[in-house]
Amino acid sequence: MFWLTLILVLLHLTRGNSPCSGRSLGISPCSRTQFVKRESLTLYCGADERLMTNSNSDTCSQKSHECYIAMTQDYHSGTYWCQSNSGERGEAVNITVTGGSVILESPVHPVPGGTSVTLRCLTSHKSSHQLGVATPINQSCTFSRDGRLIGVGLTGEMSFAAVNRSHEGLYTCTFSGVESPGSWLAVRAPSSPESLRPTSHQHLLLPLVCAGLALFLMVLLGVLGGFCWRRTRKEAEEAASEDVIYADVVQNKTKKKVRDRSDHETTCRH
Ligand SMILES: *[C@@H]1O[C@H](CO)[C@@H](O)[C@H](O)[C@H]1NC(C)=O
Ligand SMILES: *[C@@H]1O[C@H](CO)[C@@H](O)[C@H](O)[C@H]1NC(C)=O
Ligand SMILES: *[C@@H]1O[C@H](CO)[C@@H](O)[C@H](O)[C@H]1NC(C)=O
Repeated sequence: MFWLTLILVLLHLTRGNSPCSGRSLGISPCSRTQFVKRESLTLYCGADERLMTNSNSDTCSQKSHECYIAMTQDYHSGTYWCQSNSGERGEAVNITVTGGSVILESPVHPVPGGTSVTLRCLTSHKSSHQLGVATPINQSCTFSRDGRLIGVGLTGEMSFAAVNRSHEGLYTCTFSGVESPGSWLAVRAPSSPESLRPTSHQHLLLPLVCAGLALFLMVLLGVLGGFCWRRTRKEAEEAASEDVIYADVVQNKTKKKVRDRSDHETTCRH
């Protein structure tokens, strides 16, 4: 059980935590749910899932696990989600394709409380092939939440050092009088250890877990040892002639204790 717990903890800490992949819907380009017309984008789910949408997109209605949109159009706007074969729905993502020239870059999925979030205002250009290209604006933009002005970003950005529930809302940015569509920022509870990843506390986590497990093991051994000892003594008292068995049990118990302790010492060193 000790090893299993340790392996699970290690797996959890080392697992890749890309914002664009995982169990929920992935989007490339990353961090975008808003697009100008004639951009290209890919939406993808896990290999054993199907991409679902309520939009009028033909290419994304094939119930395949991914969908490549060569040129975004209005009708690609809508809700997209991944669905497993057993019918389980992943987190839904709203994609907005706008005819306007200003869009907002914001987290695609709900962010854990305590993490930093940057909102970015982008504007569209036409490339030489008339494809849409959205680039960051390095000029003054204003940002609004739920229709109320919350700040000015002199370089087209606005950052929150540590978000909490009060940051949830529908965000827009405005550049030279043109407002972007709105995107919902969702903040979830800072419960998972993943929310500790970007902070400086991460290096404390493994030693703490190790120490906790070692303590737990020692307490468990103590309780078991006490229980065995009491039981053995009772048996010994009941059958005073069976001295040989009593000695055997005590000897085995001591061996096990020594082996267990060297086990967890090896582990904590690594
Ligand atoms: C933004 O503009 C300022 C001054 O115009 C410049 O110094 C800075 O490097 C620019 N930043 C980016 C990311 O282009
Ligand atoms: C949420 O964050 C804001 C801004 O950093 C802060 O003023 C507010 O007190 C925080 N609210 C809670 C409930 O922590
Ligand atoms: C997506 O859009 C629908 C319809 O406008 C809305 O009800 C839902 O809350 C939105 N979901 C997210 C995650 O923004």
